[in-house]
Formats: sequence, C-alpha cells, structure tokens
Amino acid sequence: MCGIFGYIGKKNPLKACLKGLELLEYRGYDSSGIAGIVAGKIESCKEIGKLSCLKEKLTLKALEVAIGHTRWATHGKVTNQNAHPQFDSKQSIALVHNGIIENFDEIRTRLEKNGIVFSSETDTEVITQLISSNYEGNLADAVHRSLPFLKGHFAIALIHKDHPDLIIAAARECPLSIGTDDKCTESIVSSDPNAFLGKAFNITFLRNDEIAKIQKGKIEVFDSNFKLILKKTERLESASKAPTKEGFKHFMLKEIFEQPTTIQKAFLGRIEEQQVRFEELKHELKNVKSVLFIGCGTSAHAGAIGSLFLEDLAHIPAHYEISSEARFRVIPPETLVVAMSQSGETADTLSAIREIRAKGIKVLGICNVKNSTLTREADHCIFLKAGPEMSVCSTKAFTSQITVLYLLAQYLAQNKNLDELKQIPAHVQKVLDQAPLIQKIAQKYCHYSNFFFMGRRYMYPTCMEAALKLKEISYVNANGYPAGEIKHGPIALIDTNFPVIAFCSNKQTEDKILSNLQELKARGAPILALAPEHLTSVTKIADDVIWLPQSSDLLSPFASTIAGQLLAYYIALSRGCDIDQPRNLAKSVTVE
Ligand code: AGP
Ligand code: GLU
Repeated sequence: MCGIFGYIGKKNPLKACLKGLELLEYRGYDSSGIAGIVAGKIESCKEIGKLSCLKEKLTLKALEVAIGHTRWATHGKVTNQNAHPQFDSKQSIALVHNGIIENFDEIRTRLEKNGIVFSSETDTEVITQLISSNYEGNLADAVHRSLPFLKGHFAIALIHKDHPDLIIAAARECPLSIGTDDKCTESIVSSDPNAFLGKAFNITFLRNDEIAKIQKGKIEVFDSNFKLILKKTERLESASKAPTKEGFKHFMLKEIFEQPTTIQKAFLGRIEEQQVRFEELKHELKNVKSVLFIGCGTSAHAGAIGSLFLEDLAHIPAHYEISSEARFRVIPPETLVVAMSQSGETADTLSAIREIRAKGIKVLGICNVKNSTLTREADHCIFLKAGPEMSVCSTKAFTSQITVLYLLAQYLAQNKNLDELKQIPAHVQKVLDQAPLIQKIAQKYCHYSNFFFMGRRYMYPTCMEAALKLKEISYVNANGYPAGEIKHGPIALIDTNFPVIAFCSNKQTEDKILSNLQELKARGAPILALAPEHLTSVTKIADDVIWLPQSSDLLSPFASTIAGQLLAYYIALSRGCDIDQPRNLAKSVTVE
C-alpha cells in the first residue's frame, strides 16, 4: 500500500516529488525515499518514519528526474536499507514498488546463485536486480523481459543512471496513473491521480503488465507483448489545494465535526418528490433477488448496517461479507453485489469484485474517491460526496455510506418515507455539542486496556465500528460483540477492570440489552451506556451515560456512531497517540 510518485519536466523534480509524496503519505508512512540522477549517477535519500523525517535529512540538490516512495512494509522490517527506492548491485537502477512479489524468494535464490549480492530483505529488490540482469541498453525492454517472471501484483517506477530523460513504469493489478500537461512540458507518474495537484492533466491508467516510457511531456505505452498501444486518456482537473485541518487539532476531529454537512451532501439532490434518484445509475437496478455487501473494516460495518436496511425496508434477503472472504462464497445469480470502499483502492475488495464480475454477477460500487480503481471496475458506482478523508481512521465516510445505503434500500423498496433522514444532521449536531462531556468520560475510561462494546440489531454493527475506532487509534483491545452472545463465553473475561460500552439505541431490543447489562454489572464490569433520551432506567445500571437523540431503530446508528467516534478520539488523545496516522496502518490498503 505504498505510494509511488515520479516527475520529469520543467519544474524541479525533487520538489515536485516531495509535494506528490505529501499527498500520497496516506498510503503508508513506515519510511520514505527519493532517488534521481545527477551527472550520470543515481543519487538518493531514504529515511524511516514519516515524510517529515526524510525532509529533515534531505541533502539532495537538483535532480534531472526523480522518483519517490512512501512505504507500508510488507516484506522486510522498517529499516533504511529496506526503504524504497531499491537499487541493483551496480547502483545503476533505482526502483519504487507498490505490491507484493509472491515468488521473490525463488527469484532471489536464482539470482544469488549467479553471483548477485542483495542488500535488503524486500521483495522489491528482487524486481530491481532482475531488471538489471536483463538490461542490455534498453530499459523498457529489460522491464518487458522481466515481468513474466514475477508472480503477484505490483506497480513500479524506475530510472537508470544512463537515461536521465526517462522514467519507466509498469503495473499489474496495483493502481498506477501517468499523465502529461497540455503544453507537454511535464509528465507525472503516481499511485493516485489525485496527487497531480493543481494542474489539469491528461491521464491514463496502466494495467495488465502494461509498460510506459515516460519522458518530459511524452508518454508511450506498450502492452504485455511489448507492442506500442494507444491508450484512452481522461481529463483530470485536480483540486487546487490539499485539504487542511482548518483549526482542528487533528484531521479526525475535523472530519467528525463535518458530518452534519457530509451526511446532508450524501442525500441532497437524491430525494425528489419523496422518491430516491441516483444520478449515477443510468439504468434501473432490476430483478434484484438478494444483495451481498462486501467491504473491509469500516466499509464492511457499513455493509452490515446496509444489509439490515435492505431486509427491513425492501424485504430483500441481504448479507454482508468481509471482502477477503467474499470470493470463496457461493453467490446466487441475480444477486446484486454492493462493494463498499471509501478509497476505491482496497486490494481485497478489488480482487473480490474482479472474481465476482468474472462470474457474470453485477457489482455496484459505493465509493468516495473519484477516479479510483473501484469507480472504473464496478458496473455502476454511487459516490459518497464526503470530500477527502485524510485521517486513517474513517469517520465521515462511514456515516455517508450508511446514508447512501439507507437511500439505496428506500430506492429498491420504492418507498416514499424519507422525512426522518432529513432530521439526522440535526441529531448528529446534538451529539457533537456534547463533545466536552464525552471528553470528560473518555478521561475516566482511558486507562483501561480492554473493552467490550456491545449492542443488538442495528447497534451490533454500530458497536463493532466504534470498537474498531478505539483499537485503531488508541492501541487498546476493544471488541464489538452482539450483546446476547457475551454470556456464551466472553463473559468469563469480565471483572472490575474490563469496562463495557453498551449501545442501547435499538428500541426493539431495549429490555434485553438492559438484562444483559445487569448480568455484566453483577460481575463488576464498569459500564458506560450510550442510550436514547427516554431510556432513563439505564441510569440504575450504568456508571456513566451519554444521552443520544431518539430516532427509529433504522436511523439509530448515526447518533451512536458519532458518540463512539468522539469517545475513541478523546481516549486516544488522553493516551497521547498519533491519531491521524496510527502505527502499522495506512489509509489505503492496496495489498491483499
Ligand atoms: C477504518 O477506520 C480503517 N482505517 C479501515 O478499516 C478501512 O475502513 C478499510 O481499510 C477499508 O478501506 P476502504 O473503505 O477505503 O476500502
Ligand atoms: N513489498 C514492498 C515492501 O515491503 C512494497 C509494499 C507495499 O506496496 O505495500 O517494501
């Protein structure tokens, strides 16, 4: 899930590359590095930690061409040696890579037998050394002769000391966009076209072992048989400014507070005369006999709530499955598969939809990022319109996802009752107004190392999502559990040091969750309840309560989610964690 960026053109390649990497840091921040060519020699700088660490160390000056990388380690520890760019032993090639080479060990052993000496633990160095061993003066040709030996998936960009006017790029399954400006004065290669900041670019995406020869303002693409091909380009008007925190301490907090607006944006213009319309759906979704939601992490939790909406509103059988497991499931024909992804780049979700579509099953993508791979590969795509989500911990995307899923269920049900949804932004605001109180409660609970989050029906996926927030940014053990299931084993863990966060907003199961809470109180668990205003009886059981606005069960996930996000945020803040860029994570997970 690394970020690749390369620049050749009229601007200073080093500066352009650093700017690009800033916008790609969401893809990984274990280490970063830049390499370029100066007077026939490869010059480079690499540093573990965030991009800011590289910037502090950077002594490189004018480079003739530059490639850069921000890493999320898969093969090899987080060390300077394993950071990218990787080099061949002759120091003639520098290469950056996103993906995994599954047969790296086999190729490495073969190359070592031929006397090649490796200096890192990465699978990436294997690609570099292999290309170097096939190099006979034509870099693109060396890449072409090397790719068939690689198993796995990759996007690569590389330079050679003898070709200061050239970057070669290639991709199999991992995203890689290349583009030139209108005046043909510069060319860029990037994992994400949204990093082409501040320019109108003509971009094209590499796939299926295609190889690109990138020169200043000129791009040639070759297919896997090394035949020159004409690729369609798309016009991309990039945002002129990178998002800022706008006075908030963290992007996560800013994004939490944006939700009254982002939820509104998700339904605005989609409700006409009390009926749902999606401008993105060119054809009606017909003959939907069942729905399968797929996604990872937060997006999977949104899918879980979506499956309840579908069953309750449209009476269509619906399920959700984690993307990396979905491909092994039997999916009946006439199932609509709904692929959820904020980034549209999650490898597990993309691999699953490729397999599902190959079986002739239609895939509807629900995505936030325009021009992402999901938007190009799904049969239809509905956008969240939530704006860029910068914090690794997903917040506003989730509430936009459930807004769109609620609309989708209403659309398939052909319902006309949409008034309650319009009140949700105000409910959300009511919870945000309680941020100071939630912060106080967080300070009380921040010292515990284990938590159960529990809920029933709509509150079950909601509590799983809240638990994910907490573990992701606070590094404490938090498990979302169906409240009725705790007594079947997990209750053995409960003692006075094991708090329970109870999500009580599902009216249909109110009495039962109160009984479950009694069972836990009897065993000494500290209890924090997130409860609707009318449920005053909860005060007899819980140690602390966060009061939430009342809504129907279907729409109860909104207020509870906001409270869960704020709780996780303030616990992480009290624990002094790196909230926007938690350890070991990346915003886009582009490896399986
Ligand atoms: C959410 O807080 C996580 N960082 C993570 O679970 C995320 O939701 C998951 O990786 C899926 O990402 P996507 O929505 O971009 O596909
Ligand atoms: N496999 C490479 C490494 O570990 C790239 C990782 C990635 O793209 O996530 O350095």
